[in-house]
Amino acid sequence: MTHIQTQALSHIPSDIVSLGDYERVAADFIRRDILEYINGGVADDSTLSENRSVFDQLKLYNRIISNLSSDPCSDNGNASTHTELFGRTLTHPLLLSPVAHQQLVHPQGELATAEAARAMNTPMIISTLSNTPLAQIAKTAERSWFQLYWQPHRGANLALIKQAEDAGCEAIVITLDAPVNGLRNRAQRAGFRLPDSINEVNLMGLPQAPARELNPGDSIVLKGFMADAPNMEDLHWLRQQTSLPLLAKGVSHPADAKQLIQLGFNGLIISNHGGRTLDTLPASIDLLPAIRQAVGKDVPLLLDSGIRRGTDVIKALSLGANAVCIGRPQMWGLAVAGALGVAHCLKILKEEIEVSMALCGCANIQNITPAILVNPPASIHSRAHHLGDM
Ligand code: FNR
Ligand code: LAC
Repeated sequence: MTHIQTQALSHIPSDIVSLGDYERVAADFIRRDILEYINGGVADDSTLSENRSVFDQLKLYNRIISNLSSDPCSDNGNASTHTELFGRTLTHPLLLSPVAHQQLVHPQGELATAEAARAMNTPMIISTLSNTPLAQIAKTAERSWFQLYWQPHRGANLALIKQAEDAGCEAIVITLDAPVNGLRNRAQRAGFRLPDSINEVNLMGLPQAPARELNPGDSIVLKGFMADAPNMEDLHWLRQQTSLPLLAKGVSHPADAKQLIQLGFNGLIISNHGGRTLDTLPASIDLLPAIRQAVGKDVPLLLDSGIRRGTDVIKALSLGANAVCIGRPQMWGLAVAGALGVAHCLKILKEEIEVSMALCGCANIQNITPAILVNPPASIHSRAHHLGDM
């Protein structure tokens, strides 16, 4: 078998100036079947391509008379990218989405990403399926959240949550959109399977539920995987197990959003898993306004799937997100230049957020409203107009 990684560089090539550049260059550092697993969506990649095209179709105004520093009404003292989430300050409205199996692209895997997260002061959401023990990652990252994939044995979930709490994770995120893997046709065509050297170390030694007995002819998807997915009772139980902020990831329907908040969830991540679960789901940004409307203005909403530019970030914030997360760019940065590459991705995106805010006349996060959009979705337009915001 060929090596799973090409050795990462110890410097950043000078032609890498955007996250898209990382995607291009990373293709030379990642074995093809692994690249298809990482970059692929599901089925026909329809959601995957929407994730980009919808951002591109939203247009921004350049506000040219709002010279922030000479505005006589303001000393510009409140100009900042800072925002608050669950009582903690984020220097930029940006986090790292949970991304499993980072040793597929770099021998240090999640530890390198965590170093970058610490250096760039960006919280890292640690995946249940990391290849490094979650406590080690959390220690390196300094600021982290833990992403839980529900385990069929409740005791296993409890053990994972306790480890996350002991490691100082600031929040728990349960991912609900992938009780079964989507149809990863690109990864299948490329013959991808997880190499034996890649281990789900957090799951080792946890209590196991007895294997589910299926009758001949039973659907392993519907009677097997779906039966092991968390139900309302499990989510209620989960809520009782931690006093940390609890978020659900993979929310797309406003009714689910409402129900989760009623259950006591503290926040939601609107996500289509980077186009990796149900093909033809809309782009997250298309789902955001209705979810914001359903849960009200005070519930923290994060969004991921397709964020590649500072302009994407401010578009998401303008439509009601409190912060955004990035997934695949972590793997591209890691593959090309390890921790340095991931840190560089974050630096690029943070600078782009600042430039986009400046050119759209937004001195701070509160200024980012639908008024920055030339073509806001109709629902937002009527509501904002009603409020006299536009
Ligand atoms: C993911 N994602 C993911 N989500 C999750 O909740 N737990 C996980 O372990 C993983 N693992 C994972 C691995 C890989 C290789 C990818 C590409 C994605 C989904 C991830 O958190 C996020 O929702 C998407 O990656 C966001 O879309 P972009 O930024 O990749 O377009
Ligand atoms: C994925 C799983 C690990 O998207 O969430 O590959």
